[in-house]
Amino acid sequence: MNDPDKKFKRYTVTSALPYANGPIHIGHLAGVYIPADIYVRYLRSRGLDVVFIGGSDEHGVPITIKARELGVGPQEIVDKYHSMIKKSFEEFGISFDIYSRTSNQIHHETASEFFKKLYDQGEFIKKTSLQYYDEETRHFLSDRYITGTCPRCGYEKAYGDQCESCGTSLSPAELINPKSALSGNVPVQKETKHWYLPLDRYQDWLRKWIVDGHKDDWKPNVYGQCKSWLDHGLQPRAVTRDLDWGVAVPLPEAEGKVLYVWFDAPIGYISATREWAAEHDKNWETYWKDPETKLVHFIGKDNIVFHCIMFPAMMKQEGSYILPENVPAFEFMTLENDKISTSMNWAVWLHEYLEDFQDKQDVLRYVLTANAPEAKDSDFTWKDFQARNNNELLAILGNFVNRTLVLTQKYFDGKVPERKAEWDSQRELDVIEEIATFPNRIGKSLDNLRFREALTEMMNLARLGNKYLTDSEPWKLIKTNEERVQTILNISLHICANLAILSEPFLPFTAEKLTGMLNLPKMHWDDAGNTELLKPGHQLNKPSYLFEKIDDEVIQAQVQKLQDTKKQNKADESGINPVKEQVNFDDFTKIDIRVGTIVEAEKVPKTKKLLKLKIDTGVDQRTVVSGIAEHYTPEDIIGQKACFVVNLAPIKLRGIESQGMILMAEDAEGKLCFVQPSEAFENGSTVK
Ligand code: 2FM
Ligand code: ZN
Repeated sequence: MNDPDKKFKRYTVTSALPYANGPIHIGHLAGVYIPADIYVRYLRSRGLDVVFIGGSDEHGVPITIKARELGVGPQEIVDKYHSMIKKSFEEFGISFDIYSRTSNQIHHETASEFFKKLYDQGEFIKKTSLQYYDEETRHFLSDRYITGTCPRCGYEKAYGDQCESCGTSLSPAELINPKSALSGNVPVQKETKHWYLPLDRYQDWLRKWIVDGHKDDWKPNVYGQCKSWLDHGLQPRAVTRDLDWGVAVPLPEAEGKVLYVWFDAPIGYISATREWAAEHDKNWETYWKDPETKLVHFIGKDNIVFHCIMFPAMMKQEGSYILPENVPAFEFMTLENDKISTSMNWAVWLHEYLEDFQDKQDVLRYVLTANAPEAKDSDFTWKDFQARNNNELLAILGNFVNRTLVLTQKYFDGKVPERKAEWDSQRELDVIEEIATFPNRIGKSLDNLRFREALTEMMNLARLGNKYLTDSEPWKLIKTNEERVQTILNISLHICANLAILSEPFLPFTAEKLTGMLNLPKMHWDDAGNTELLKPGHQLNKPSYLFEKIDDEVIQAQVQKLQDTKKQNKADESGINPVKEQVNFDDFTKIDIRVGTIVEAEKVPKTKKLLKLKIDTGVDQRTVVSGIAEHYTPEDIIGQKACFVVNLAPIKLRGIESQGMILMAEDAEGKLCFVQPSEAFENGSTVK
């Protein structure tokens, strides 16, 4: 699968457009954006012509559902999450040439034109059919508006377009026990008219293209899924929807209908390229239509059918587009052995990570690459995160660079020492020879989209440096043989310079810092492998640490956060509130709770909730204003015994000073009830 490059003049690399209905988490980064970014940074470092496309997917039912949940319009939702997602990508160094959005005018135009061209060519079938309809909310139920049991795996919350458990692409009619996701009602069937892409007609060329053409160069999971669909036989797929959010179907007879989100979203890659090209005086068409362009789509495994079957079918039928050379889809990442879930808040959100680990973007990039779900699902744990930081980044890479730079400062005032030919022993010659092999070793893995292997190779260069330094012991030799120390540090510094180049795709922030410490300009892949990058006498900058140790307490805090989420989820399921933060015994004993009796009660005028009570606390008689008027009338409670906090600082409510608080419990329906001491207790008895 090694990329012979010669075949291609340029690269168009896309990464799945995330729905703008929530923030981004580690699963997104690990499965799509980090591998795509590593690949693109590597291509750029090799001086190749590449455009890296990203953007937000702002249409479709995922957006309208979120808007309904929050009681706001879809535009508000996409505006909020588009900026949030864009910011996270920037913060983590995902180096898009453009991060666009499908609500842009240029996208509406591009998607419309695309549809119209296929329509004019007679590619679509128009069909009236019975579809599920929610009579209460008056919506046709497609995609995520309808849920039910997956006919393949039995998962009970499968969507009308896809089962998120087994990844099968579905249609609402296939769901067992379908239910409206809007009202929970059992839907009725109603007639509606839509346009279908007859995928069955393209079955033969798709089979030839994928099964005959990409058996060896597509990842086995991608190839396997495609083959399975082709073996099952493709069906026509509706490309329009009855919805009021999306790209309007550009036909007079299609009022109230929009393009299916999976028809418009991949066209979003093209629209974004057009937008970028216009801003950079480039010709967008060469990036999509010239056969000398290599098109690569990075996606998650749930997107395979759309990128390998549907979008290629659309492009091929349109006639002027190239097809993807590769569609690397990763598997999923789990978190502490549980499925990452937005609704259960079971995720490490990028914006939250950065609050707790400022400037540690590269640590996360490293961990997510080292443990990428490249061939099978992988699990993120905070313990592994800590171990990889402390035992790999810090102990291998950071330690080697730091030792080399500190020793150079100490012995040679930070000036690159000369490599003396007479001190080039076989060991030195072997190291120099080995350094030369790394650009190809790492590059070959990246050409073959083997990111974990590529990262290991990059770290092997740091390992080589560490071992060389440890074995040569310049700190001992300095007393007896300074000239040999010059040679050792010259070679070690060259390993650092090579690391600055070769680590850049994986750890861009670290590479930049290291380049700065070496006082070198930005270098390229071709500069690596050689040991003549630093002239003798070249002044280095003062070193600082590339990585810091991450302590157990820091990790424990993250684990605790997840445990709290689990507790909260359990509590949400059972309807019981989770336990509050701990207080110490001294704080608890400061609260003075007494048995007392309500002796007078009246409504506070012009309020719905407040009652003004006179309480006999056994110590005194005092006024308490309480928010229980919706649960009790004054008559109900005169003479009632209850427990009162008597040393709460007084506050004024509606002009009345309240000098305490009644203890109440809340029942399952939210009704407040008195915490009632037995009649045997005198007013003034202490509750502890
Ligand atoms: O699965 C998703 O999150 C989709 N929004 C991906 C779309 S990829 C492309 F087609 F835009
Ligand atoms: Zn399923």
